[in-house]
Amino acid sequence: MQSNASPWARRILVFAIVGFIGATATLFGYLRARGGHQQGADAERYAHAQRDAGPPPVLWSVPDFALTDHRNRTVTPGALAGAPYIADFIFTQCTNVCPMMSARMVMLQRALQDTDVAFVSFSVDPAHDTPAVLAEYARRWNGSETRWSLLAMSAEERKAIVAGFRVTAAPTADPDNPIIHSNVFFLVDAEGQVRGVYSSDDEAELASLIEDARGLSRSRTAAPPTPAGGLYVALGCAGCHDSARIAPPLDALLGPRALADTTTVEADDAYVRRAILEPTREVVAGYLPIMPSYRGALSDAELDALVAELRTRAARDVSAPAPRAVTVVIDPVCHMRVRTEPDAPHLTHEGTEVYFCAEACRDAFREDPRRYPLVPPP
Ligand code: HEC
Repeated sequence: MQSNASPWARRILVFAIVGFIGATATLFGYLRARGGHQQGADAERYAHAQRDAGPPPVLWSVPDFALTDHRNRTVTPGALAGAPYIADFIFTQCTNVCPMMSARMVMLQRALQDTDVAFVSFSVDPAHDTPAVLAEYARRWNGSETRWSLLAMSAEERKAIVAGFRVTAAPTADPDNPIIHSNVFFLVDAEGQVRGVYSSDDEAELASLIEDARGLSRSRTAAPPTPAGGLYVALGCAGCHDSARIAPPLDALLGPRALADTTTVEADDAYVRRAILEPTREVVAGYLPIMPSYRGALSDAELDALVAELRTRAARDVSAPAPRAVTVVIDPVCHMRVRTEPDAPHLTHEGTEVYFCAEACRDAFREDPRRYPLVPPP
């Protein structure tokens, strides 16, 4: 996997992530004031740490838990013991950082499909993410992956587990909209010990994660299941593109596309290839540059097959309605980029519709609008 983002697009991405972290930092301060702050949430510190060659060192042991997964099975550290696993923290209603992480999760699952490495996603949204909601999420991303468990937890369990993994998952004022600012992957060995922490947005660290996981794993002899629904489903494209809030629907991938830089481009095969290999080079208007590059994750034959598959989808549904005009604006409280979806938190202020990343930012603005001058759209 190699990053192919242009410097400009990288800057936007960094801006979005910094904005996200900034927003969480604000919340963090707020929670600390309320006494809700987690001690020792320092896992990210290990993500960029230099280390010697050889097997990754033992960092700490995972906390104890007994959680229900999306197949309604109880998952404990004991049940996971015996094979290494890769873990992350997500929530299903998140439309920016988590889809990026889940896309990477699916790429890791493919890269390690000949091994016994398992995959665990802890949901940090107790109010919304039930096992049934997580089952639907798993189906959208990689329904045929039997080694992946998505775990639901209560608010009480979340407190202990995020503390044990040394991450922060800070609830906002809106209980349905928790925010997390740790976008790392953990590598846990067969004995339940954390062996590495890796940034999910760093290609080099993801490559080390694959190598380290391979080093701790055994190869599995059973052939990986072949998913129905083609590469679009197998690669997790559906995880983002089946939700118009996150990514443009691909059923009408024909004709001219309006790009964020106000130019227009014809959606021919060359454009579709570029969109898959260098997604941040031409960004579709109204969307955030969150699609990862699939360069290195696909063989040439797979890329050809995928482009042909998208063409068939488009040809099947030429009458699909044009996507509704949604623009990207700046949340005046946390300065994160947000989309003007009808169901995004927003309010009318002096005749202008103002959009926010979460209810917490909207409430802060409502309380004291003078503190947060409106920012012109990017
Ligand atoms: C993490 C979410 C995410 C995943 C996973 C993802 N995409 Fe995207 N994709 C986006 C977003 C957001 C856009 C619009 C912004 C842009 O152009 O970068 C986009 C744009 C596109 C476009 C251009 C669409 C248009 O209307 O012109 C194509 C084609 C595309 N993606 C194909 C794919 C394919 C094929 C896969 C799977 C291999 C995939 N995407 C996986 C988020 C994603």
